Amino acid sequence: MDKQDVIIIGAGASGLMCAATAAYRGRKVLVLDHANKAGKKILMSGGGRCNFTNMDAAPKHFLSDNPHFCISALRRYTPQDFVDLVDRHGLDYVEKAPGQLFCEHSAKDLLAILMTEVEWSGADIKLNIKVVKIDYQDDMTLVTTNQGVFACDSLVVATGGLSIPTMGATGFGYDMAKQVGHEVLPTRASLVPITVQPERKEQFAALSGIACDITATSKGVSFQEPMLFTHRGVSGPAILQITNFWQPGESLGINLIPNLTLESLMALRQEAPKKSFEGYLSSLLPKRLVELVKVRFDWLDQRSAQTSNEQIEQLFQYLSHYDIAPNGTEGYRTAEVTLGGVNTKEISSKTFESQKQKGLYFIGEVLDVTGWLGGYNFQWAWASGFAAGQYV
Ligand code: FDA
Repeated sequence: MDKQDVIIIGAGASGLMCAATAAYRGRKVLVLDHANKAGKKILMSGGGRCNFTNMDAAPKHFLSDNPHFCISALRRYTPQDFVDLVDRHGLDYVEKAPGQLFCEHSAKDLLAILMTEVEWSGADIKLNIKVVKIDYQDDMTLVTTNQGVFACDSLVVATGGLSIPTMGATGFGYDMAKQVGHEVLPTRASLVPITVQPERKEQFAALSGIACDITATSKGVSFQEPMLFTHRGVSGPAILQITNFWQPGESLGINLIPNLTLESLMALRQEAPKKSFEGYLSSLLPKRLVELVKVRFDWLDQRSAQTSNEQIEQLFQYLSHYDIAPNGTEGYRTAEVTLGGVNTKEISSKTFESQKQKGLYFIGEVLDVTGWLGGYNFQWAWASGFAAGQYV
C-alpha cells in the first residue's frame, strides 16, 4: 500500500499552498483531485486574471459564525508574504482597485507559480482520481480511491465550497466532516448576482450591460461600488458584496444617487433654474436608466424652477430607495463563494486539525470562513493552507 505522511484532497488554492508548505518541511505529500486539472478556480477567477490577494486583508473582511477563528492564520501568513512569493517568481501584477492585486496578464501565470512551488517542494499530485471512502485507524488514515488505497498520517480536506459545480465543486468536504461528527453550518451561494421579479426583468433587460455607482445596504452594512444591469437582474461589485449579508426575502437598500442629498437636489432650482432634472440626472446616471425613471416622473424634462418640493422629494425618495424587486440569486451556478460550512469551533485555529478526529485537517473555503469580494478569499486559502502546512 502507498504510504504518505500527508494526503491532501483538493488541488485548489488552499490545497496547493498546503502541499508545498508541508513538503518543504520534508513531509511526503500527495494531493488528490477528481478534476482533470489543478487550480481550475484560480484560472477562472478575477475575470481570468485572478485577484490573488488584498493588501488590506484583515479579520473584519471575513464572515464566520466564529469571527475570531481566522485571526491567527491571517496574521501568520499575510498578503505581503504572498506578494513576496510571487515576486520571487517575477509575476507581473497590477493593483486594479485599492489593495486588490491582479495578475497583469493571466491567472495562468499565478497557477504556474503554485505548480512550480509544488514541484520544487517535492509534493506529488494525482488528478482524475475519485475518493471512494475514508477509514480512520489507530495510527493512520486509509483513503480508498478508484485507483487504489493510500495511507497517510495526516489527511487534509481542501475541497472548497459548492460554487460552480461544473468546475468540480462538490459537497464532499462537508460529508467528510459529518462522517466524524462535525457540525456543518447551513451553506448558501454568495458573491453572486441577484435575480429580479419577472416585471423588473423585462425593464432591466433593456439596461443590460450598463453600470452605475450605487450604495447597496443590508443589515446595516453598505457598499458603495458599481452595479451592473444584466438580463436576469443585477450584478457588479456592489451587488456581489451585499450578497454576503442579504438573503432572498429580506429588504435590500439600493441608492442610485449615493453622493446626493435631498438638499443638493433641491438646490438645482437655484443653481440652474433652466436645467431639467433629466439633464442633471443624465450627468450622474446612464441615459437609459434616466429614461426609465422618466416613465414614472413625466415632469423630469421640465425646467427645474418649475418643480415643486413635493416632486423633488418623491424623486429623491425613489432614487435613493430604488426598488430592484429582488427575487433571489443566481445560486451556485455563478456564485464565487459558499457561505457557511464546517463549524470552526471544532477546528484548531492554530493547526487546522479537527478536534473530533486526530490527523484530520480542514482548510480553505470548506470551512465556515467567507471573505468579501476583492482578493480576500484567496488570501484565506493561502493563509489557512500555509498554517496547516506547518503542522500536518
Ligand atoms: P478550490 O475551489 O480552489 O479547490 C477545491 C478543489 O477540490 C478543486 O480542485 C476541486 O476539483 C477539488 N475537489 C472538490 N471535490 C472533490 C472531491 N470529491 N474529490 C477530489 N477533489 C475534489 N477569490 C478571490 O480572492 N479573488 C478572486 O478574484 C476570485 N474570483 C473568483 C471567481 C469565480 C468565478 C469563482 C467561482 C471564485 C472566485 N474566487 C475569488 C473565490 C476563490 O476561487 C475561492 O475562495 C478559492 O478558490 C477557495 O480555495 P479552496 O482551496 O478552498 O477551494
